[in-house]
Amino acid sequence: MIGVFDSGIGGLSVLSALRAAYPEADLLYYADTARLPYGGRSPALIRRFAREAGERFAAFGVDYLAVACGTVSALALDAIADAANCPVSGVVLPVVRAIVRDGRRRVLILSTEATANSRVFEKELAARAPGVDLLSLGCPLFVPLVENGVFAPNDPALLSLLGRALSPGMTFFPDAVLLGCTHFRLLSPAIASLFSGVPLYDCGEAAAGAVPERFGRGNGTLRIFVSDGPDAFRRAALRAGGLPDGVEIGTV
Ligand code: DGL
Repeated sequence: MIGVFDSGIGGLSVLSALRAAYPEADLLYYADTARLPYGGRSPALIRRFAREAGERFAAFGVDYLAVACGTVSALALDAIADAANCPVSGVVLPVVRAIVRDGRRRVLILSTEATANSRVFEKELAARAPGVDLLSLGCPLFVPLVENGVFAPNDPALLSLLGRALSPGMTFFPDAVLLGCTHFRLLSPAIASLFSGVPLYDCGEAAAGAVPERFGRGNGTLRIFVSDGPDAFRRAALRAGGLPDGVEIGTV
């Protein structure tokens, strides 16, 4: 069984990609909604949350864990892997490889604040593409906006807020925008409208490809669990269009 972890609805795109790639896989999605958002917390607390999430996945009996949270991938992949006691992949390296493969040289990195402070994307990009120009912006408001359904690209309030948050990025004139938090995919039409013609790289998109094929065999079951009541998660996931039909949401 493959586990998929995020703090909220951001990882549902990774879940969909895994279902498309491996229709027979048994999948278990767990979102730590009681403690969302992770991105404004200290590294020590994020590592503790990650360890506790890993313990849950170990109790569920997953054989592989796809960490679909940029913040945990950046700060606590080793901690969640250790507690889950199974092979693990995150969302950092797949998107870094895609950017290097495409020869991008001026990359704007958007992520949660904790991820930005970790400088993980900068280190991994600089190690693989020496001399690449990088600008990293921590975006503390983006995850709460997405969880609350504020992502319509024609919403003037959203566009004004994004314009303010991203103005240093616009004057940087990037040739690629790296979305280093899986929630940000839902903001991509609005972000794209501010960076006309610049390709956006979503860290969740490439991540499903990191899961080895042998874990994709099973009976095609899907279970979803959250750490707080399921209603807010269901509403947010339905708004985002990421909730598979008929699936129950349990609380642990
Ligand atoms: N989707 C998570 C990420 O990629 C959101 C983190 C948060 O809860 O702030 O970082």
